[in-house]
Amino acid sequence: MAPQATESVESEHHVSLLRTKSVEQSIADTEEPEFRLKKSLSALDLTVFGVGVVIGAGIFTLTGRAAHEVAGPSIVISFVIAAIACALAAMCYAEFASTVPVSGSAYTFSYASLGEFFAWIIGWDLILEMFLGASVVAQGWSAYLGAFLEQIGIVLPEQLSYGGAVDVPAILLVLVLGALMTIGIKESLRVNLVLVAVKLFIVLFVIVAGLMFVNPANYAPFVPSAEATASTSGLTQPLLQFLSGIEPATFGVGGILAGAALVFFAYIGFDVVATTAEETRRPQRDMPIGIIASLIICTILYCAVALVVTGMVSYRDLDPAAALANAFAYHGQSWMATVISAGAVAGLTTVVLTLLIGATRIIFAMSRDGLLPEKLARVHPRWRTPWVISIVVTIVVAVVAGVTPVGVLEQMVNIGTLSAFVLVSVGVVVLRRTRPDLKRGFRVPWNPVLPILSALICTYLMLNLSVETWLRFLIWLALGVAIYFAYSRRHARVGTGDFLNPATPRVVAPPET
Ligand code: ALA
Repeated sequence: MAPQATESVESEHHVSLLRTKSVEQSIADTEEPEFRLKKSLSALDLTVFGVGVVIGAGIFTLTGRAAHEVAGPSIVISFVIAAIACALAAMCYAEFASTVPVSGSAYTFSYASLGEFFAWIIGWDLILEMFLGASVVAQGWSAYLGAFLEQIGIVLPEQLSYGGAVDVPAILLVLVLGALMTIGIKESLRVNLVLVAVKLFIVLFVIVAGLMFVNPANYAPFVPSAEATASTSGLTQPLLQFLSGIEPATFGVGGILAGAALVFFAYIGFDVVATTAEETRRPQRDMPIGIIASLIICTILYCAVALVVTGMVSYRDLDPAAALANAFAYHGQSWMATVISAGAVAGLTTVVLTLLIGATRIIFAMSRDGLLPEKLARVHPRWRTPWVISIVVTIVVAVVAGVTPVGVLEQMVNIGTLSAFVLVSVGVVVLRRTRPDLKRGFRVPWNPVLPILSALICTYLMLNLSVETWLRFLIWLALGVAIYFAYSRRHARVGTGDFLNPATPRVVAPPET
């Protein structure tokens, strides 16, 4: 038997902010016919899915901007630091996803370990990550489309394209991808596969072709000395600088760290793989492979691209908007620049698609638990996808990407994701103590040292994000807490006792393995 008794349906459970949902209950909910998703994904699908969402605006646009404004050639070190944070968090995600293979990723994990309030906060953070991430990247896509069309001689109307009053290409992209995901995840992944192949080809092309144009002189100084700049002052300086009262500055060691907090964006997405756990055939084995393989592939590619690009063009001259394509244009290779822009258009498509899918899966899990209106979570009888949520997500992202200036809010996406990473890392330690009996397909080595280190590094990166990002994040959190107390707390199934499968006791013996 599990350490706890079934009797734990105690009254305080109904009121506690830290009430948990048992792992068994989470898994039992997924068996309910009206909420059941199709289990069709393999380890390779997950890796493709991971690479598809990870490689995107981060490497195509942000790297150039971060090198130019914040870290110079030492942006490579920033990529390594961000990769270490991600690798630690990825292990924690892999352990959770192989233990609790339920849609909803970090949200579901924390419901099982840290309790409902934290689960709600994580879900709320993930909604921020994926909604805003999809909108930011949709605009990046539109910017690259504009650049590509211009290179082949087509100019879109200024007011109806990227940077204009209404970003029509971004809206159309979101609507098409939204329709695709509503019809079926397997079909979406098939489209993903083709686009991911194109994207990988382009990234490898940048690395191999770019090597020919590398001038070692561009690496000096590798770590430019710290300097005060107009772009880093007041609200735009990292919180850490603000708190320690030092003069706001960019470059130098501080620039490497601020750069790491910024290019962290480029890695975001491997965690989204965990949101599809419920649609995976053998989650215990395939989840860890999918998560860790996509992270390793992306880390290698990113460090190579960062080295090549800062070697091709001095960081002072890097184009902050489309550095990869323009590094080739700088060397007079305009056809290569055109190929890269076209590849970026294909590459960013898959990121938007995957973030849209991730957003629907998080909301799906939260509505199934009653924390959001349950009617949202109905699965379509034929498509077997949460179609109501898919449509709502599509419309909201289309509007945000179409008419608001979200293009520069990567830091908001980062802070939402990093906070989820911190809570997931702590959750691993907690679940090891509260449920040592559960079968874990993958275990983080050296527990609790590595999970705690993961939480600390992610927190440190958060402190390197700007003051204005923190202010916006606190407003977002306040809104989330208000909704929790006004609605979710009273409607949560864990509190009402209205379980989908009443035959399943809240705390039961671990499944036979
Ligand atoms: N990692 C994703 C990107 O770079 C979000 O676009």
